[in-house]
Amino acid sequence: MKSILDFRPDLATKIDEVAEVAGYLWQKGWAERNGGNITINITEFVDREIAAMPALSPAYPIGSVLPNLKGQYFFCKGTNRRMRDLARRPMENGSVIRILDDCAHYVIIADAPVKPTSELASHLALHNRMIGEGKGYKAALHTHPIELVAMTHKREYLEKDVLTRLLWSMIPETRAFCPKGLGIVPYKMPSSVELADATVALMSEYDVVAWEKHGVCAVGPDIMEAFDQVDVLNKSAQIYISSRNMGFEPEGMSEEQMNELKEAFNL
Ligand code: 13P
Ligand code: ZN
Repeated sequence: MKSILDFRPDLATKIDEVAEVAGYLWQKGWAERNGGNITINITEFVDREIAAMPALSPAYPIGSVLPNLKGQYFFCKGTNRRMRDLARRPMENGSVIRILDDCAHYVIIADAPVKPTSELASHLALHNRMIGEGKGYKAALHTHPIELVAMTHKREYLEKDVLTRLLWSMIPETRAFCPKGLGIVPYKMPSSVELADATVALMSEYDVVAWEKHGVCAVGPDIMEAFDQVDVLNKSAQIYISSRNMGFEPEGMSEEQMNELKEAFNL
């Protein structure tokens, strides 16, 4: 079967990157069954030939109107598809969608009519915001990192910035590479528009947003950087838990040490 990737080797390279990250998510144990999803904005690769490709599906509603998405194209993991399968065969376990001119519906255009992830409302709302910001961010990730999700089961950690300060204090890199920290959305129904709205609202304030008792969302210029953000925070969570497993409460870096970093790195 002919693939959209046959038209554009540069797009194929981008999809390879998605597949690589999908493999990491599986290896880390963050992607049980179909857990987690990835979307990337691929509009920059759309030429006349791709723009002329016919719809393979009816027009599906996004659930809200997202004005910056008019005519944009995204590669999306398919709903109910496994990350470990996306890693090996991305075009069989994901698809390319085109947002229609009403900014409220999309159609699938390639390679096959694989229905996009059930968290599309959150992903597209994040892409809408990223375009509005104009920083060139193109990737959105939702995943189920074990230790971070475990920590959202403790009421005290759901209070504003309590978890951020704890995670920052575990290792200097977290303070340096996640300077805005982790925002927390109180539990909401997976795949709901309410979850999408709450996620977008917090993403302007934080690097990564956690969904209570479910997972996290991150964005970035590309999918590798979105993954790195979650990886850094989850590493801190693992250090905390390892210390507790050894029988002690970790001391954590002092406020002074963290402030020193803030100045040195201009955070
Ligand atoms: P999808 O298989 O629809 O992408 O859903 C996975 C998930 O993690 C839902 O929150
Ligand atoms: Zn999920």
